Amino acid sequence: MSRVEWTVSRLPKDITMIRIYDKETQYFEALWEIPEGIEYNSYLMFTEEGGILIDTGPKDSSAFMEALRSIASPSDIKAIVVNHMEPDHSGALRELLDSNKEIKVVSHPLSFKLMESFYSISPRFKLEVKDGAEMQLAGESVKFFQLPWLHWPETIVTYSKSRSALFTGDIFGAYSLPKDPLIGSMQLDPDYLWSMKKYFVNVIGAYRSNVLNAVKKLRDSNLSPEIVLPAHGSAFSGNRILEELLSLYESWATCSERGKNVIAFTSMYGFSEEVSRELIHIFEEMGLEYRIFSFTSKGREAFSDTIAAMQDAPLIVLISSTYENSTHPLMNYLVSLMEKKLCKDKNILVIGTYGWGGGVAASSLVETLTKAGFRVLGSISVRSTITSNDKLLIREALEKQLHQKAA
Ligand code: FEO
Repeated sequence: MSRVEWTVSRLPKDITMIRIYDKETQYFEALWEIPEGIEYNSYLMFTEEGGILIDTGPKDSSAFMEALRSIASPSDIKAIVVNHMEPDHSGALRELLDSNKEIKVVSHPLSFKLMESFYSISPRFKLEVKDGAEMQLAGESVKFFQLPWLHWPETIVTYSKSRSALFTGDIFGAYSLPKDPLIGSMQLDPDYLWSMKKYFVNVIGAYRSNVLNAVKKLRDSNLSPEIVLPAHGSAFSGNRILEELLSLYESWATCSERGKNVIAFTSMYGFSEEVSRELIHIFEEMGLEYRIFSFTSKGREAFSDTIAAMQDAPLIVLISSTYENSTHPLMNYLVSLMEKKLCKDKNILVIGTYGWGGGVAASSLVETLTKAGFRVLGSISVRSTITSNDKLLIREALEKQLHQKAA
């Protein structure tokens, strides 16, 4: 039985939000652990000419079509705006066009190529929008902005002048299944803010320069929507809501927030884990705040949470066991995510543990991290059980980091 459910909610400005809850996906993008779940939002607005639909729900379109039919018939729809062609937002497009061939489809030029290749769709009535295009769409005064790579190259956002509403696709989205469809201000509770940040780092983190371009473009546009409506998570309302959200994205894209340091370790037989315990002891003595993420034979943390926690960490300590004369594969995987998803302004201390053969786990990690542009503070190789000399070396490396910070 599918664990996907739906709701429809009437929001201000006569906008209806269709939320499809996905409690089934364990790994978003077949990659990110999301025990908190995710939802896919579409929006329906009516004018005197008929319905305008913004995005069409996830690939399994059954829940979306059921939700839509509870409030409107496909024959009521005059236009569909596809903000983003990824199949978590374009799922029911074909079914809708099969039901009503008169629907005008509005999107980025690339989206129409993707419609053809994903769903063999070639809409009878289509409108390719340029950046900044303004028009009357089924009686609604709208403006479109192209914001490439947030999160795909064909991303657009749609501003309804008539309703002072900005539909933003993935942008400002979050994981989780929030109870409230609309958040009244940016006084976000910490759990929701974490869901937004985790989503940002996981899904959009690789495109930080594009995020900054998008922030500039939307600021320069002087839009001042009263309601902002993403395709994942809650919608937002407030007098300065867009600027508040843009400031948040700007700070995340530039990594200007400073949070707890992160310790991440792989441990097969407990030696690296023992190093992590000693490290915690040293951190606490030095008054350094930290979060710790373990990858051991007994269990492992979510990579989605680990990489999101690293977003604000000034200092990261990676402790890797040696595996087949190299770094442990899970540590290699974590570092490959760090390369793609994080700012490079991190200080990283590398610790390798080994039984024989020397410090290959550490040296290999140092090489990869340095090549990626991170600041490597140093590396320490621990032969099985940590010694007092190893502890001294770790302490010295951390003190070096503290002094650098103070200077
Ligand atoms: Fe939620 Fe990039 O799709």
